[in-house]
Amino acid sequence: MKFFVDSAEIDAIAELNDLGMVDGVTTNPSLILKSGRDILEVTKEICALVDGPVSAEVVALKSDEMITEGRKLAEIAPNVTVKVPLTWDGLKACKVLSGEGKMVNVTLCFSANQALIAAKAGATFISPFIGRLDDINMDGMELIADIREIYDNYGFQTEILAASIRAVNHVSDAAKIGADVITAPPEVIRKLASHPLTDKGLAAFVADWEKTGQSIL
Ligand code: G3P
Repeated sequence: MKFFVDSAEIDAIAELNDLGMVDGVTTNPSLILKSGRDILEVTKEICALVDGPVSAEVVALKSDEMITEGRKLAEIAPNVTVKVPLTWDGLKACKVLSGEGKMVNVTLCFSANQALIAAKAGATFISPFIGRLDDINMDGMELIADIREIYDNYGFQTEILAASIRAVNHVSDAAKIGADVITAPPEVIRKLASHPLTDKGLAAFVADWEKTGQSIL
């Protein structure tokens, strides 16, 4: 399973990248706002740092304007993935941009039918939002399972990029179902290493080691 970092914070991406944890990055207008950075500049920096796909999202609502924005974003670096919303206009833009050989991430997916139609429009990635479905008392993970089944039934090559990941269980559950990629905030990725029994066990080892009076160095 590939790990993408859902962030536009250079320092956080760099720390995870040094650990070999970063297969790509996803951003969106809210994450650009949070970073306080210029979208073109920060996307260029992330693309230089990370080898894998870096999603940068269009903000226009009409397909022709999305296509123009997408072409401009794709000029930043070869690893830019143009992110478009799952609207009819977004699908038109997806078809054109993917036809030009650009990677396209279709975002804001909340149903299996939306995922099906995005694959038919040539999406490189489909981004179902798990957390936001859970927020309204629906089962985000069930959507991942449905999309996996549909894509496998027909051999669609579109990669399932499980997004809106808020908790560590989302990561392991998406991995069990067979999502191709998860994108998660840096803090969620860091939490994957945590377990209370690890902390408890380590505290006991440290305490016992002190009692031995020994030193390794
Ligand atoms: O990748 C999409 C993601 O950023 C949305 O996450 O937590 O805002 O629903 P969230």
